Amino acid sequence: MAMRTRWIEELSESLLGEEVTLAGWIKTVRKMGAITFFELRERTGVLQLRADAAKVPDARNEYVVSVTGILRKKEVPNPKMEKGDLELEVTRMEILNRSEPTPFPVKEETEALEDTRLQYRYLDLRRHALLRNLEIRAKICSIARDYFEKNRFLEVETPILNLATPEGARDYLVPSRTRKGCFYALPQSPQLFKQLLMVGGIDRYYQIARCFRDEDLRADRQPEFTQIDVEMSFMSQEEVLSLAEGLFQRLHREILGEELTLPLRRIPYWEALDRYGSDKPDTRYGLELQDLSFLLGKGLPGMEEGYARGILVPASLGPISRKKADELGEEARKMRAFPLLHLRKEGGALKGSVLKLLGKEEEERLLSLMGEGDTLLFLGSKDRRKADFALGAVRSRLAKDFSLVKKGTYDLLWVVDFPMFTKSEEGEIVAEHHPFTRPRDEDLPLLEREPEKVLAYAYDIVMNGYEAGGGTLRIYDHEVQDQVFRLLGLSEEERRRRFGWFLDAFRYGAPPHGGFALGLDRLAMLYSGTEDIREVIAFPKNLMAVDRMSDAPGPASPEALEALGIKIEG
Ligand code: AMO
Repeated sequence: MAMRTRWIEELSESLLGEEVTLAGWIKTVRKMGAITFFELRERTGVLQLRADAAKVPDARNEYVVSVTGILRKKEVPNPKMEKGDLELEVTRMEILNRSEPTPFPVKEETEALEDTRLQYRYLDLRRHALLRNLEIRAKICSIARDYFEKNRFLEVETPILNLATPEGARDYLVPSRTRKGCFYALPQSPQLFKQLLMVGGIDRYYQIARCFRDEDLRADRQPEFTQIDVEMSFMSQEEVLSLAEGLFQRLHREILGEELTLPLRRIPYWEALDRYGSDKPDTRYGLELQDLSFLLGKGLPGMEEGYARGILVPASLGPISRKKADELGEEARKMRAFPLLHLRKEGGALKGSVLKLLGKEEEERLLSLMGEGDTLLFLGSKDRRKADFALGAVRSRLAKDFSLVKKGTYDLLWVVDFPMFTKSEEGEIVAEHHPFTRPRDEDLPLLEREPEKVLAYAYDIVMNGYEAGGGTLRIYDHEVQDQVFRLLGLSEEERRRRFGWFLDAFRYGAPPHGGFALGLDRLAMLYSGTEDIREVIAFPKNLMAVDRMSDAPGPASPEALEALGIKIEG
């Protein structure tokens, strides 16, 4: 006899009175005298079973069963359950396997600690909420495969055991047994290989690629994650962006059932920073930053010179309490800009402790900016990014605290025209993306004189305030590449040692090329409506990069270490 003839998903009124056999897990058991009610859970749904208590075995929670019965309409439907109007009148129940009491109850609204859920992930995965997330993730992959293949892209795998790639995070290293003392680096991305595929004439490549980065983890970062990685030749930046947009249009249509209006908005990097205080702005709410340069050099703390930015909190959000102002100030302080000053307009006049420091003229200007009951939060910094990012953090916090974002709404845009370089805290010039990013043609004359002003063919796709992906056009000209390396302070010797194998390829006819990589985990997270990347990964690591199930990473055996020529100290 078959263990299953139907999935719960397929059951409907048209099958009433028919015999069906289902298989799955017992979700709940309720004994009501001579009748026992069960809920059966399997991949596609949950169904109530009604059984003669004397005729069914003692099946308990999480027992695995195959159950046959007649499909009936329920006398009192349960509107909260998807198949709440149906039940199975059980004629036979076979226990296929038993379960010990589980470490936490497997139910949708779980109260179990995340650590416990990760330790017993296989139980957690029985929750349909997680399953739905994995289904959305799989759907993104299948739509992407279909989309890229229809556009003549070829899926190519690239190596996992490599020399280091230049994405800027710490590498995961794998010791070599055959070359003692040498290490492979796991790929932070397939960046160099995908460029070499272009030199190799593949022309259009994509890969759903595993990447590894040993960096500080956050709610939207994992040490191993997946990119939908794409590279193409003979395309302008606009053509690359519009190709990526086509994918998002299909994702929106097929996952959310929404039409995306194309082309998406493109916001230049500096405009995003100055208006939203972020290079990944969430534009679903206002609270745009205001330029308050007229307050510089007027004796206000932190506003001696440089950049002054403010956010006008409208009266409709209510007064900002002292406690709230302190919390917001803390957000700014974390971004190393402080103090966060504030003023309120009440009865047509300004109120606030810094009022006494203001001159008449500044006071008048501020009064004209503000409406009755509005609060102005503001700060200054010598550094434009610092001022912007600090107020950006205040802006996000306000949106969160005042619930300014409507759940289930989507905001998708490009941030373009990233600077080619930034200055590190130590004053060194570093690449904003990676050193193979191509400077804009019109900015080439600035490379030597004012490298910080050079903008690049670099773009990020931003969804609901998250960086969902990013890419660049690449340098394919030997001389420009040399110039960029020189600016980055990489000696000839270092260049040869780190990238020689890669740069050689550019001597043999490299086509103009560029591409992007989308963070699959982040896309899955955004399309599933969760804010925790672990909720869309079957077996994620915790914030310490540890797998709570196996407790990896673990020690290696003395024999393995000896074969690798590795001695562990301490
Ligand atoms: P980048 O480093 O911007 O670009 O990465 C592309 C996208 O990958 C996702 N991402 C991550 N997701 C989860 N956990 C992480 N630790 C993590 N790090 C990055 C983000 C990000 O936007 N080779 C270039 C792309 C290119 O130029 O073509 C690259 O890797 O969503």
